[in-house]
Amino acid sequence: MLAKIKQLLQEVENLTASNAEELEALRIKYLSKKGIINALMADFRNVPAEQKKEVGMKLNELKNHAQERINTLKEAFECQDNSATELDLTRTAYPIELGTRHPLSIVRNEIINIFNRLGFTIADGPEVEDDWHVFSSMNFPEDHPARDMQDTFFIESHPDIILRTHTSSVQSRVMEVSKPPIRVICPGRVYRNEAISYRAHCFFHQVEGLYIDKNVSFTDLKQVLLQFAQEMFGPETKIRLRPSYFPFTEPSAEMDISCDICGGEGCPFCKYTGWVEILGCGMVDPAVLEANGIDSKVYTGYAFGMGVERIANLKYKVKDLRMFSENDTRFLEEFEAAN
Ligand code: DAH
Repeated sequence: MLAKIKQLLQEVENLTASNAEELEALRIKYLSKKGIINALMADFRNVPAEQKKEVGMKLNELKNHAQERINTLKEAFECQDNSATELDLTRTAYPIELGTRHPLSIVRNEIINIFNRLGFTIADGPEVEDDWHVFSSMNFPEDHPARDMQDTFFIESHPDIILRTHTSSVQSRVMEVSKPPIRVICPGRVYRNEAISYRAHCFFHQVEGLYIDKNVSFTDLKQVLLQFAQEMFGPETKIRLRPSYFPFTEPSAEMDISCDICGGEGCPFCKYTGWVEILGCGMVDPAVLEANGIDSKVYTGYAFGMGVERIANLKYKVKDLRMFSENDTRFLEEFEAAN
């Protein structure tokens, strides 16, 4: 009897089953009422009294072992089955829909791609900035209205720490750590203390451009912006530059593109002018180069800055700027095809 139990122990140890039916057959063979182990139990009364203790223990061991082995095999099947067929009650009852890229990301990526192809690399800087990088190094006079509390978010206890109001601060960050030639674009979020309405928000996004080298001229600026406008809005797009003023550029200009709704004929969107403004630009003021450690007698440069929301508005005709930050999926889903 002992030899038989030993052999069965070995057998049970090596049991395998490749599906639920085979497993059930094993259970019946070893553990059912008419199974092998029960038959041995029935034989137990014929065991000589002096062996009963040892044989009894071994028999119990065999029974437990068989049960354990079959449980283990069963668990393995259940794991497999779960993933394939069982109901997952944690899943939503509705089909899972894929997310879409945010329209501002789509437009920002498109801007980045165009300038990448023109040889610009990406530069980054902090949104929580100091006065130097946002204003002083960019040639803003002490009493410039943009420094006013009305426009800028200050931290009360640290008046020097502000939320950047434009990505021009990254120009300064780049200049202070690199030598010309510099050719970067700086996409990022900016903040202004504005009342929120359909046409203004307290935060929005800009892409800044900066090119500094020997002999950089206004013609280079105009050519690169024309190239950008035609890639972004189509090859028929025209540009015009109007004189303007920014503290950090001299001369400065604002750039309009021909209205792509009416093709320049005049419509409500372009207020019947045929043109829509898309960015500010100019030659980097020598005072800015000097403030940031670049020799203005050797180097010249151009810069430009555009609002991503503005470009997205032109491309997608979004009337209310607030839509971009409300995360209404009905709005966001409209951009699925643009991904
Ligand atoms: N920083 C300006 C703004 O926020 C935009 C701008 C204008 C950037 C002219 C420039 C520039 O680099 O040359 O309105």
